[in-house]
Amino acid sequence: MYADGSAGTPAEGSTRLFNVKMRASRGGAHVSGAERLVPAARAAKTAAALAERAMSRTACDPSAVHIKIEPAESALRIPAVPVSEFRAKSHAEARAFARRLLEDAGIARTDGILEMFSGLRGMRGAVLLDVDSLERLEPDRARGVRVTALDSSPSIPPCAGLGKDHFSEAVVLASKVLAAPGMIGEICVSDDPGYNTGYVSLKGRGYCRISNLKDPAAAGGGRIFLFRGSRAEAQETIRWLETRPVVVENVPPRPGAAAQSRMEGIEAELREIERRGLYRRCRLLECEAGPHTVCGGRELAVFSSNDYLDLARDPRVKQAAADAALRWGAGTGGSRLVTGTLPPHEELEKRIAAFKGSESAMVYATGYMANVGAIQALVSHGDAVFSDALNHASIIDGCRLSGAEVFVYRHLDLEDLGRKLSLARMFRRRLVVTDGIFSMDGDAADVPALEEMCARHDAFLMVDEAHATGVAGKTGRGLCEHFGCPPPDIVTGTFSKALGSEGGFVCTSSALAEYMRNKSRPFIFSTSPSPAQVAASAAALAVLESEPWRVARLRENTALFASLLQGTVPERIDGAIVPVVVGDERRAVEASERLLEKGFLVPAIRHPTVPRGLARLRVALSSSHREDEIRSLAAAVRELVRQDAPSAYLV
Ligand SMILES: Cc1ncc(COP(=O)(O)O)c(C=O)c1O
Repeated sequence: MYADGSAGTPAEGSTRLFNVKMRASRGGAHVSGAERLVPAARAAKTAAALAERAMSRTACDPSAVHIKIEPAESALRIPAVPVSEFRAKSHAEARAFARRLLEDAGIARTDGILEMFSGLRGMRGAVLLDVDSLERLEPDRARGVRVTALDSSPSIPPCAGLGKDHFSEAVVLASKVLAAPGMIGEICVSDDPGYNTGYVSLKGRGYCRISNLKDPAAAGGGRIFLFRGSRAEAQETIRWLETRPVVVENVPPRPGAAAQSRMEGIEAELREIERRGLYRRCRLLECEAGPHTVCGGRELAVFSSNDYLDLARDPRVKQAAADAALRWGAGTGGSRLVTGTLPPHEELEKRIAAFKGSESAMVYATGYMANVGAIQALVSHGDAVFSDALNHASIIDGCRLSGAEVFVYRHLDLEDLGRKLSLARMFRRRLVVTDGIFSMDGDAADVPALEEMCARHDAFLMVDEAHATGVAGKTGRGLCEHFGCPPPDIVTGTFSKALGSEGGFVCTSSALAEYMRNKSRPFIFSTSPSPAQVAASAAALAVLESEPWRVARLRENTALFASLLQGTVPERIDGAIVPVVVGDERRAVEASERLLEKGFLVPAIRHPTVPRGLARLRVALSSSHREDEIRSLAAAVRELVRQDAPSAYLV
């Protein structure tokens, strides 16, 4: 026991902690809040990450975010309370279990406590209840008791823009509450209408997570601190809860999260994926790539391929792959830095660099690896990366793997990006990363405006031209040709789409390329692309350079299709992708199946590729589609729109 009546050990004097608090409000009303206790070296970064968390929760849409950093004198270190779980099948069962726990802890007036618990709503703070008299002891009932100055060790990451760890935060809070003088327990359930799991924590027993603890008839939520002691002691306990810095150590993982046997839950999860219309399966195509295929013995018009210029089956491209395999072998036997750099690799790097107007280029086995490799090489812990909300999964994964603080800005919203860049001046290095043409929406980033903003904030700009290469600009060189602007710091892309082959690239300055060759893990630790693959990509580039009419034809086909579906598809289509947003995941799958019956291969794109509830048909045009088949598909899509409730199609 310490002088203040709590159990714990003072935090080491050498690591002075700071309390970083974030409070977000809209029109003066609280919308969200969080805090962390961190050493001085991490205070600024934590502040920025908490601010980002507030700004990126669009549901809250704060009008003000206040950040306060203050020294947390003499923090106590206490162990986390033990954690268990009870999965109640109904609210009645949960309530009976909670009652039993309270009774076992020697609390007599459980009916009164549970009745008060069901009646709680709209309180940010907790009730402080004398368990014997059921008298409320908090001085301000509207405000309640607010527990602050607490964190876990190691600190729970603020998860900028990526949600929060509710379980760990609840255990940290429950641990501090149980350590307070006079406190014997707590009962709590969130006031979030979509969440009915709560907990009872009791001295000597610990924290028990209970499903169905929310009374569905009352549908409120809140917390009650169960206290035994005098009124004067209650005031001291409130002061302790609201001001005493406490660090909770060894917060355990959520029960059940680690306790499953290997296969338990796998089957159930798959069925759940199926139930939600998110099940995926491979479709076997029985002939070579191109605008037409055979599937299950049926001929289909392909409107799902990224082979926009019909180069995957081009005889010159196929021949180059075959020749390279015969001349250089089927594989390289090592990564680029070991045995994996052959003349075809160097030739392709020179070609793609010249095509994109950059000093240097690096070739990877896939576009996915190029994105992950470029981001991870450029930023790490202590840096910040700013990512458009609709960026491709490979960019999202690169951001996550880099260890940098991730700031997600609203899709194409330069104002939001500017705000976030201004918040992040304290980071060592800043990188803004965006799809050039967005893979599921078909719209383009404003590259010149991004270049201007990045220059103002001394940030690197990386543009992924996976869907812009061979598509944007008069000769398909991409968005810089389209906008007439200089290349951004880093352009990534893939040979697997308009260039009909396979492999990724990073085009950049000689200095950054040298840096990345020494830092980019997918470049260093993965076998280089095969000679056939690299030679096919180089041959496809040569075809594109000599036949710019393909780019013009693709643009005409896309414009024709979009014009036939005016009012059903977005007005702004910058690439070869035209989304028909359906909304519901299962309806999107049904729509795709109905088009298949009519002879069109058009995929249904669902979460997690696009946000939940924004499932869509993704129509990808090719320079080789015939006008009659484009018109037939447009008529078939129009028919679907007419048959379904028109409101299902969000434009
Ligand atoms: C925008 C974007 N970037 C990167 C990739 C990854 O390219 P690859 O398929 O070559 O790995 C894709 C394609 O899937 C994409 O759509």
